[in-house]
Amino acid sequence: MNTEELETQVKKRRTFAIISHPDAGKTTITEQLLLFGGVVRSAGTVKGKKSGTFAKSDWMEIEKKRGISVTSSVMQFDYDDKRVNILDTPGHEDFSEDTYRTLMAVDSAVMVIDSAKGIEPQTKKLFQICKMRGIPIFTFINKMDRDGREPLDLMAELEEVLGVESYPMNWPIGMGKGLKGLYDIYNHRIELYQKEDKGINYVDLNDAGEIEGDHPLKEDSIYQEVLDEVELLGDAGNTFDEAKIATGDLTPVFFGSALTNFGVKTFLDIYLNYAPAPQEHKTIEETLIEPTNEHFSGFVFKIQANMNPNHRDRIAFIRICSGEFERGMDVKLARTEKKMRLSNSTQFMADSREVLESAVAGDIIGLYDTGNFQIGDTISNLKKPITFEKLPQFTPELFMSVNAKNVMKQKSFHKGIQQLVQEGAVQLYRSYNTGDYILGAVGQLQFEVFQFRMLNEYNSEVIMTPMGSKTARWIDPEQLDEKMSSSRNLLVKDRQDLPLFLFENAFAERWFADKYPDVKLTSKL
Ligand code: G4P
Repeated sequence: MNTEELETQVKKRRTFAIISHPDAGKTTITEQLLLFGGVVRSAGTVKGKKSGTFAKSDWMEIEKKRGISVTSSVMQFDYDDKRVNILDTPGHEDFSEDTYRTLMAVDSAVMVIDSAKGIEPQTKKLFQICKMRGIPIFTFINKMDRDGREPLDLMAELEEVLGVESYPMNWPIGMGKGLKGLYDIYNHRIELYQKEDKGINYVDLNDAGEIEGDHPLKEDSIYQEVLDEVELLGDAGNTFDEAKIATGDLTPVFFGSALTNFGVKTFLDIYLNYAPAPQEHKTIEETLIEPTNEHFSGFVFKIQANMNPNHRDRIAFIRICSGEFERGMDVKLARTEKKMRLSNSTQFMADSREVLESAVAGDIIGLYDTGNFQIGDTISNLKKPITFEKLPQFTPELFMSVNAKNVMKQKSFHKGIQQLVQEGAVQLYRSYNTGDYILGAVGQLQFEVFQFRMLNEYNSEVIMTPMGSKTARWIDPEQLDEKMSSSRNLLVKDRQDLPLFLFENAFAERWFADKYPDVKLTSKL
């Protein structure tokens, strides 16, 4: 691929995640988007509730059992001359670090909200991660075919609860049984609501923003109400500001119904227009690597072992940051300076996993891994290897002590723990003196998945003893005196052998600070 072609290809990429609270409609809207992209033939195949087939994102038995998605997968399709990569984020309330890391690999996010429920806890958490990264966030307020909360109320909640400015791209004309359509502020037209798939019916608006001539909708009192509301929004609301959208300070808001495929196409068309193509990435030396750099580079944001139970495999998910990936190319892994040939690559889709020949910046590739990679690793074929900025490590809040049930099976127990920790499934600590294993996580579900996988993949039954929620605080090794430890502030060490205390509560922390005023504790690694 020459430079010009690379530039054209990179510009076409749109890589994003859909964030929402469970049941808001993420799966339904993903299916509709895939249908537009011609990937799945029938709705219902992403989660497979109705068709009985399971997509890759639902491969794990634990997921089937609990009907949730705990892994993230990648779906790719072409639409309107764009190549779209959707990264799936787990939709369960129990949070995991996997979700956070997936959000590090996207260029923008779509936030789906249930119109009857408004902002829910999971949406808020995920939103905050996106905000922290300063990426554009687009909002889709779903289920307008049902009675929900007043649109003005929902817009106000966005601003108050999330602290983000909002701009309505369209405005619902009625809701539930009374849903008549969308007043499309952005496209200056009305999109009429039709339940069945009868094609899309638009009515143009005149310069005054009204329907010209006779139209049945004009007879409806809701029509005038909407005109008044739209006028109010125009006078008192925020203005459409591309710069603010780009930094995530203003979210464009769309209304619609994923289930009846209403407003989804309008959303997709505008979204792909404003969502950014791949951006530059910063290295630890603060150098910016442009996506169109002729050299290939990327980072591992996720490692997944045993995706296919029939083939014991381990796949490293890599976000390409620059250049082009070609199967069989030679790269260097910055951390170990190891040279490797990338011959076993795979691409992910909703219904199949295919061997990938080539991909460019913005795309996600899966590489079969034999234990070389760690989360956050950078690979590149630049002459002087680079390392991208560290992925944030999330300070765990929940802890468990863990032991092998069968003492004769120590080998598989240690191997399982080492591999799952390397994958980033949980964080590992050891008690300072005895070296006993302690696991840390941000969500309870991470422990359950860990336990399940230890048994299924490593044939190791583990006993987990909850230690409850604790606050992890690192101490400068120079200042450490082992006598500082007590049952309320347990002394442990992390994977780099750095000492830290697990405080029982804020009271224990204050007590410590009073007793050792000169000791500086930090919350981050
Ligand atoms: P999630 O991935 O965010 O968890 O949500 P999902 O798409 O699975 O949707 C949750 C439920 O909400 C599903 O119903 C789905 O059919 C419904 N839903 C999604 N979008 C809309 C919409 O625009 N309007 C209405 N009325 N419902 C919507 P379910 O009964 O839980 O599942 P199913 O058995 O129907 O699949």
